[in-house]
Amino acid sequence: MLKHHGKLERNSFLLLVVMIVVVSIGGLVEIVPLFRVETTIEKVEGMRPYTPLELAGQKIYIREGCYGCHSQQIRTLRDEVERYGHYSLAAESMYDHPFQWGSKRTGPDLARVGGKYSDDWHVEHMIEPRSVVPESIMPNYKFMAKRGADIQNIGKDMKALRLTGVPYTDEMIKNAYEDAMAQANPEMDTEGLESRYDNALNIRVFDGEPNVTTELDALIAYLQVLGTMVDFSTYLEAE
Ligand code: HEC
Repeated sequence: MLKHHGKLERNSFLLLVVMIVVVSIGGLVEIVPLFRVETTIEKVEGMRPYTPLELAGQKIYIREGCYGCHSQQIRTLRDEVERYGHYSLAAESMYDHPFQWGSKRTGPDLARVGGKYSDDWHVEHMIEPRSVVPESIMPNYKFMAKRGADIQNIGKDMKALRLTGVPYTDEMIKNAYEDAMAQANPEMDTEGLESRYDNALNIRVFDGEPNVTTELDALIAYLQVLGTMVDFSTYLEAE
């Protein structure tokens, strides 16, 4: 064995070839299993795709670059868990395309901001952050209270997301617009919406303005569901 190794060490070309072979095997062993993504994400109870209104909210979040100042990934470190709650699970972002983990925290992590504040607080905070947090450096997003949410075509987004593996059904896609309207207008018939999105569903006028479904409705619906789908009082660690 050692004798053969001597041969390798004296012939740099042969050494290179054998190195490439060995490194390739190592690489394949690590990478190939990842192509079967289903097997690398632990299934967790409670995860559902975003409702059409929440999805419209996520589109606004992405459009405005909120990820440039906010992360959505609580790490396993003690200070993070004490400040933000249970560390993020892979399954919690499996329906996010693109994922919103972020890498910059000018503001706090938002992975579990859902339910932390009232809708009214969010309305005030989005319109003028300094009215509720005097030292805030977050920009004002006043215009969102006036602009109608882009929900007419949200079904097309859902169709595209289905191609990436998000389990939207034909029925969810067909009723996308009605479901988006119903979630922010509890006066409407919300039965269909409730049967299609059973868990962690918030149905109410999010922006305090019942007549129009605004961008603020969509964004707050999105923020209020973040981190609330998995029930951590019953969630058990895998090991
Ligand atoms: C320039 C950086 C910046 C941008 C861009 C930004 N934020 Fe913030 N955000 C902050 C800072 C700083 C805070 C902490 C002070 C405060 O609460 O306003 C914050 C706080 C928040 C909070 C309260 C979090 C908590 O747990 O207290 C929410 C919710 C929020 N931002 C949402 C958004 C959304 C949605 C967007 C995009 C429309 C956005 N932010 C864009 C900097 C930013």
